[in-house]
Amino acid sequence: MQVNTLILGAGAAGMMCAAHAGAGVLVVDHAKKPGEKIRISGGGRCNFTNMYTEPAAFLSANPHYCKSALSRYTQWDFVDLVARHGISWHEKTLGQLFCDGKSTQIIDMLRAEMARAGAELWLSTSVVEVARRDERFQVVLERDGRRIEVSAAALVLATGGKSIPAMGATGLAYDIARQFGHEIVEPRPALVPLTFSDKRFAPLSGVAAPARAFNDRAGFDEAVLFTHRGLSGPAILQISSYWREGEAITLDLDPDGTLFDTLRNQRQREGRRQLKTELARHLPAKLVEHLGPALPMTGNLADQSDAALSALVEGLRNWTLTPNGSEGYRTAEVTLGGIDTAGLSSKTMMSKTVPGLYVIGEAVDVTGWLGGYNFQWAWSSGWAAGQAI
Ligand code: FDA
Repeated sequence: MQVNTLILGAGAAGMMCAAHAGAGVLVVDHAKKPGEKIRISGGGRCNFTNMYTEPAAFLSANPHYCKSALSRYTQWDFVDLVARHGISWHEKTLGQLFCDGKSTQIIDMLRAEMARAGAELWLSTSVVEVARRDERFQVVLERDGRRIEVSAAALVLATGGKSIPAMGATGLAYDIARQFGHEIVEPRPALVPLTFSDKRFAPLSGVAAPARAFNDRAGFDEAVLFTHRGLSGPAILQISSYWREGEAITLDLDPDGTLFDTLRNQRQREGRRQLKTELARHLPAKLVEHLGPALPMTGNLADQSDAALSALVEGLRNWTLTPNGSEGYRTAEVTLGGIDTAGLSSKTMMSKTVPGLYVIGEAVDVTGWLGGYNFQWAWSSGWAAGQAI
């Protein structure tokens, strides 16, 4: 069987590409349904883009690589597409745009766009072998127990990263890229909860607090969630992308920087109040209890000198912790690293050495922050490859 374009992976990037790659497109996926990560994303409402999408929100060995695609197919282009399909949406926080209804609306929209473009979709299809002969790609697929050889002028790798293997994530794109001489920037789980071997936060499990999680590379002001195994919540997921084994992260539990003045004022007004009681008005009571042994918190407010309050606030603003690991690919939202952008064109997403081979979406060494950025990369890179094919 001959096609113009064979796209491996019917996820966000693969479907977007299929809608824009012209005639003769076949998309294959080993899953029973397309876009499963879209379906489960954003708590079932899909955080499909971010109003503030800009290259600074992406990690890559080459921070410039994502610029061209993101500037040519922007978050507003995707918002227009969503609006054309009558899907209503809202901003939740920090520019994060979600469907008002279900995330399956986004999958239905992409399927409709693919159908409009005449792209064919084969599900429950696995990739057995990929070769290049006579300037075409010869790909052996297995479908319904039968082997089918497909010859394609263009081959698009859109099988994503390794996150959540239980949902069918594999390293197929990396394997094929390697086969064609491409380098891989070491993949690692990102946007992932961090763990502590001593389960020290188990008693706080379920407690959340606004904080700034930071290290010397980045910092994020969002909620921190304490769990049985360690730390989660948006601030932790974000900093996890900038964390390496053996390193510490720091939590600032007074991210607005107002606590010292508040405590001083309260000392004047409510001097007889217990310091811990006052702190529990600003932080979850269980967290105050947990921190008690490590920080000077005994006595009334009136007992505290400015120096004592300052030392306490200093401690709360610089809570340094060294996780022993992360929850890994089992729960990571994305995979950091991937196919090295040095071997790819940032304009077309095509290999610089293998004409007709394209790589898009999470398989590429471009990883966004939490908040709709990863889908935007999938849309932008999928669109850019589609235009070029
Ligand atoms: P994607 O993973 O979407 O698609 C890859 C496709 O390839 C899949 O359909 C898979 O079945 C198929 N495939 C894999 N291996 C194969 C093989 N060997 N043979 C055949 N097919 C194969 N991002 C965001 O911006 N906003 C959000 O709200 C969320 N929320 C979210 C929640 C959760 C729980 C996760 C795990 C992830 C998110 N993300 C997110 C991240 C986002 O889902 C992710 O970055 C994109 O789906 C990446 O799109 P791709 O098309 O590159 O891969």
